[in-house]
Amino acid sequence: MSVDTFTIPVQRVEKSRISEVDFDNLQFGKTFSDHMFVVDYKDGVWQDPQVLPYGNMSLSPATSSLHYGQALFEGMKAYKDANGDLLLFRPLANLKRLNSSAERLCMPELPEELFMQGLEQLLRLDAAWVPSKAGSSLYIRPLMFATDDFIGVRPSLTYRFLIIAGPVGKYYDVPVKVAVEPNYVRSAEGGAGYAKAAGNYAAALLPTRKMQEKGYDQLIWTDAKEHKYVEESGTMNVMFVIDDVLITPSLSTSILHGVTRDSVLQVAKDLGYKVEERKVAVEEVIEAHKAGKLQEAFGTGTAAIISQIALIHYNGQDYELPPVEGRKVSNQVAIELDKIRTGQAPDKHNWVYKV
Ligand code: COI
Repeated sequence: MSVDTFTIPVQRVEKSRISEVDFDNLQFGKTFSDHMFVVDYKDGVWQDPQVLPYGNMSLSPATSSLHYGQALFEGMKAYKDANGDLLLFRPLANLKRLNSSAERLCMPELPEELFMQGLEQLLRLDAAWVPSKAGSSLYIRPLMFATDDFIGVRPSLTYRFLIIAGPVGKYYDVPVKVAVEPNYVRSAEGGAGYAKAAGNYAAALLPTRKMQEKGYDQLIWTDAKEHKYVEESGTMNVMFVIDDVLITPSLSTSILHGVTRDSVLQVAKDLGYKVEERKVAVEEVIEAHKAGKLQEAFGTGTAAIISQIALIHYNGQDYELPPVEGRKVSNQVAIELDKIRTGQAPDKHNWVYKV
């Protein structure tokens, strides 16, 4: 392994694995680039940042995050523009959410300089891993977890932050069938649902699997008190177009503060659509469907960007939505967002960060 002198020390891989990757058949989350960024927190400071070959880590069986779930993650993407330059989409929005998740989980915040330097260093080194094919990107996964070798319950005193990355294609190939979850909840007001806490995803697995056994791909989560209002869909924020208005549940402590959610709402406004962030009752959506006014339903998230919903199951009934091809708002927003992210449209909101 050769050691380079960058601001952050870099250990390069001896041999890249990139030639083993089939860039035409990328499966989400299976392929990782050559390197990773690692930094540890101890004695109250982040120290020893490094870029290392992507690889396994050795951990004590008493590592506290394995027991009590003090762990969080982020998701973001990088693209290549027509000149081959690397473009990151809204990295500082992800850092802001990361630090808000960290605060909620009693973990230390990560300074902007450290995050951006680590990210840029990693991306420069693994630039060849950023796909240029339309619809593909480099998915970037920052994560932080507690590393105390201690199984007493208290906030850990030590942490590890990493950034790993891997090329991805589409997250979902076809529009999804979703069912309104009548019993389980993803999170409650006052909980940690707004944060990207690892445990939120663990607790969602069983209800999702149960619904998948009934033939649906994902759930529509509803509020914890009454199961009356829509919260999210699967691991994504959710939006509806009713009577030409784009409607989405307003943010709260139980709803993930999605960066893609925010971007979609802004682009929709820029394109001249009317946007409403407010409580959305399940009954409102179903009544709109019955009246022929539910034009679109879709999830928004970094992995899939826009994931079209083909059908909503509620109270024993399947409600089929209009064909995806005719969905004006989501299709137009998806195209526009794609152009902004890949440097083909003006970046009015300063979202694109050139590496
Ligand atoms: C996203 O939509 O970006 C997510 O957070 C899903 C991820 C857990 C794969």
